[in-house]
Amino acid sequence: MGLRFIFMLTRNDMTVEDAEQHLKTALAAGVHHIGFKDVGLPFERLKELNAAIQAGGATSYLEVVSLDRESEVASARAAVEIGVDILLGGTNVDAVLPVLAGSGIQYFPFPGRIEGHPSVLTGNIDEVVESAVKLAARDGVHGLDLLAYRSTENVTGLMAAVCAAVDKPVIMAGSIGSRARIEIVRRSGAAGFTIGTAALDGDYPADSPELETQLQSIQRDVAGVNNHLSPHAPNNLDQAFASFTETWSPRVAGQVNNMMIKLAKFEGEFVWHHHETEDEMFLVHKGRLLIKFRDRDEVINAGEFIIVPHGVEHCPVALDGTCEVMLLEPATTVNTGNADDPRRVTELSRV
Ligand code: NI
Repeated sequence: MGLRFIFMLTRNDMTVEDAEQHLKTALAAGVHHIGFKDVGLPFERLKELNAAIQAGGATSYLEVVSLDRESEVASARAAVEIGVDILLGGTNVDAVLPVLAGSGIQYFPFPGRIEGHPSVLTGNIDEVVESAVKLAARDGVHGLDLLAYRSTENVTGLMAAVCAAVDKPVIMAGSIGSRARIEIVRRSGAAGFTIGTAALDGDYPADSPELETQLQSIQRDVAGVNNHLSPHAPNNLDQAFASFTETWSPRVAGQVNNMMIKLAKFEGEFVWHHHETEDEMFLVHKGRLLIKFRDRDEVINAGEFIIVPHGVEHCPVALDGTCEVMLLEPATTVNTGNADDPRRVTELSRV
């Protein structure tokens, strides 16, 4: 499973006034993890916001801000009543666990000592790790919410140390505003991270400060960091074939492991040949292809393909003018095989 991006509808540790509107944008952008805080909006609106997150197919997160025992218990009760999927933050685990019991809510409290508002993580790395290990060992604690970027310690070292010390998922919170930071978070072994203000304020590196563009940029970066993204754009065969006219001169359109994808235009008859070790696949894109074999002929129409195993003699012939063919064959394959023919091509250009 890849690194999880949790979009927080929050600024300065408060749920933003226009959370509902931003939620619509986030859901439309395909964001699957969306959180808010228990301050900033009236309870009923938080409840509706949560219902809208879940109705949109996303997982909901409520992050506790208040750190005194009484308000934290009140927040946990609110989380149960709101029906969030995951409760993030808080430090009064003994008080919160009984409230959450039986609710099905996953609980990710803060390791370490948290002070102030906006919250700051105090203590050195060893102290935070010790706290993380103790918390993660508890039943009812499903993971941790580490305020890594709210620490004055070496943040990279802190994240890696906490992730290495516990076997439950760790979410990194605070000030993650670039692909470089997302990569650092990924390398630390984290399960996820939150971004709120950076996206809402249009500070994430993207083509525009609009929230939609911001979220798309974050998601593309996360997909890249997760290795969930192909570096290749889609290819259009009509356009690729239109880019050259030369016949019997295959162009390289791509490579799949050691197999080349080649595009070729055939016209008239080629030459009898075989390939010692290479199998060839001929997929006809346009026109009709006749392949003569020693004992019979095969006609391949547009949308059809044929495989010619190595060692089998064949002679391709384009019927009805030019025939557009996609070839799939090992990179070492030469078009004329064992035959001596002036149409032999060894240096292939790319489409
Ligand atoms: Ni051949």
